Amino acid sequence: MRIGIFGTGGMADALGAHWARAGHELLVSGRSAENAAALANRLGAATGTWPEVAAAADVLLLALPAGAVLDVLAASGPLTGKVLVDCTNDPALTGAPVASRIASASPGAHVVKAFNLAPTDIWQLTPPAWEGRPLSVPLCGDDPAALAAVGTLVRDIGATPVAGGGLDRAALLEATAAFVIGLWFAGEDAQAILAPVG
Ligand SMILES: NC(=O)c1ccc[n+]([C@@H]2O[C@H](COP(=O)([O-])OP(=O)(O)OC[C@H]3O[C@@H](n4cnc5c(N)ncnc54)[C@H](OP(=O)(O)O)[C@@H]3O)[C@@H](O)[C@H]2O)c1
Repeated sequence: MRIGIFGTGGMADALGAHWARAGHELLVSGRSAENAAALANRLGAATGTWPEVAAAADVLLLALPAGAVLDVLAASGPLTGKVLVDCTNDPALTGAPVASRIASASPGAHVVKAFNLAPTDIWQLTPPAWEGRPLSVPLCGDDPAALAAVGTLVRDIGATPVAGGGLDRAALLEATAAFVIGLWFAGEDAQAILAPVG
């Protein structure tokens, strides 16, 4: 696949490294040309402006703060037919879910919420795993082809995709992240609250 990566921070680096190893063609864009060039150099990727990368890519990873992603998309030109992978978290859960806001702002694009539940130090592992358990990655989206493409990208990092339902359920992924990450930062063992249903 031709994957555009928006953002040059931890998530962009961790997921991009897996996809580069898997043989995907990567393009990086960021607000800092210097940071974009440094990440592209590590990944063996090309760089471009937001609209250049959006136009060239089939799939766009939105590895940006939730509060920045809509402005960046507005500057990215037409997104019709693109798969937008939303890994963002908004710890404050302000307003409508980020995934819904992205979908409303990008008519004709196919939004898939994914990769928002685990931290970058786990995504950096090959394969991503904790305590010997490989990671599963829930996906929420409405377009079957987009879900299949992102499912392939999940397998390419060594994880297992899990059908999470339609994009309306992305709100649950965002709320889960906000709640669980809050527990981790408070020093609690968030895994200990998720006992399996008998
Ligand atoms: N960190 C995690 O463990 C984790 C896990 C799952 C999901 N997420 C979510 O994934 C997204 C990316 O997280 P991250 O850890 O990769 O963040 P990060 O390391 O802080 O990187 C953020 C990127 O966004 C860019 N950026 C910041 N403000 C911007 C703006 N106003 N306009 C354009 N670009 C802007 C930064 O550019 P500069 O380099 O110029 O600052 C940087 O390239 C966030 O929504 C986060 O909540 C994070």
